[in-house]
Amino acid sequence: MTSPITPDAPEPAVTDGDPIPAPTDRIRTPKATPPDVVRCAYMELVVTDLAASREFYVDVLDLVVTEEDENTVYLRSFEEFIHHNLVLRKGPVAAVAAFSYRVRTPEDLDRAVEFYTELGCRVERRAEGFTKGIGDAVRVEDPLGFPYEFFYEVEHVERLAWRYDLYTPGALVRLDHFNQVTPDVPRAVAYMEDLGFRVTEDIQDEAGTTYAAWMRRKPTVHDTAMTGGDGPRMHHVAFATHEKHNIIAICDKLGALRRSDCIERGPGRHGVSNAFYLYLRDPDGHRVEIYTQDYYTGDPDNPVVTWDVHDNQRRDWWGNPVVPSWYTEASTVLDLDGNPQPLTSRTDDSEMEVTIGADGFSYTRKGDDAQGFKLGAQV
Ligand SMILES: [Fe+2]
Repeated sequence: MTSPITPDAPEPAVTDGDPIPAPTDRIRTPKATPPDVVRCAYMELVVTDLAASREFYVDVLDLVVTEEDENTVYLRSFEEFIHHNLVLRKGPVAAVAAFSYRVRTPEDLDRAVEFYTELGCRVERRAEGFTKGIGDAVRVEDPLGFPYEFFYEVEHVERLAWRYDLYTPGALVRLDHFNQVTPDVPRAVAYMEDLGFRVTEDIQDEAGTTYAAWMRRKPTVHDTAMTGGDGPRMHHVAFATHEKHNIIAICDKLGALRRSDCIERGPGRHGVSNAFYLYLRDPDGHRVEIYTQDYYTGDPDNPVVTWDVHDNQRRDWWGNPVVPSWYTEASTVLDLDGNPQPLTSRTDDSEMEVTIGADGFSYTRKGDDAQGFKLGAQV
């Protein structure tokens, strides 16, 4: 290991990665080559009141409308050049219809079909035009029960990066990541590694119970995260701003609009990912994170960071408590027929229970746990 930057530096803020334990119920590795995933590209949300959702995402959050009709709104961020990063589709039950990834070549769609067919998953090819602005796509119900989509062909639209005449103080510039709730995090991680994703950070305890893992394709902290809980559910979708002050501007705007009740958690600084964050709830309760300034992870030997679940700074670097709803509430996900996927309960320990439950102790400095120090004990 390298020496600390200063001789009297405090103990390292983070630790070297501990390997996530092998799952007991491993999804077998397909022989087929996985599709080459470039990045998370868009999410399709089913919303129950399209006008209310459009008002939230367009008038409040200033996403850009690429195209819309009476049932659907296609939205993108300021730096995006593909048709959309978010689809709002009117439907009877608030849910997530697709976590969509862009792949590197058209042939990667064939690889996706082979990979998921070998896993015994339901796989459907969707012809160009199924989703506006997207060419041929492959949709699957993945081994964890999530509706995943892969596409290559896409309609290019104007990248508004230089259109400072259109920017607003809280402008959202990129789709950054998804976050999924799944009961068995090591099982999810092993499958996602087979799909070509790599872990950048995780949360474990001294016994090796894994509470969450962050996984990437593009060279940021993540394209998606696996959060332990009853699943499959969607925890949040995250958009990036350029700077921290843009996130503060969103909070100010929500206050001015008397919409402060949209703010669920934050603003704050994450320990995991080092990003500045804010969590909002849309009119259907879908959780949206506004996120900025995580770090580059593209080297092949990018160090993995493992956080102790009892470290009070892992979820918020300033030690602010995590509200219980953030741990317990998440969005339904749909199967390929549009029906809600049934949930499987988590059997491993719950992060909320071990940190802010009756027996959970957290620490700000190593050793505080012996004194019963417990921030976040608000429930
Ligand atoms: Fe996130």
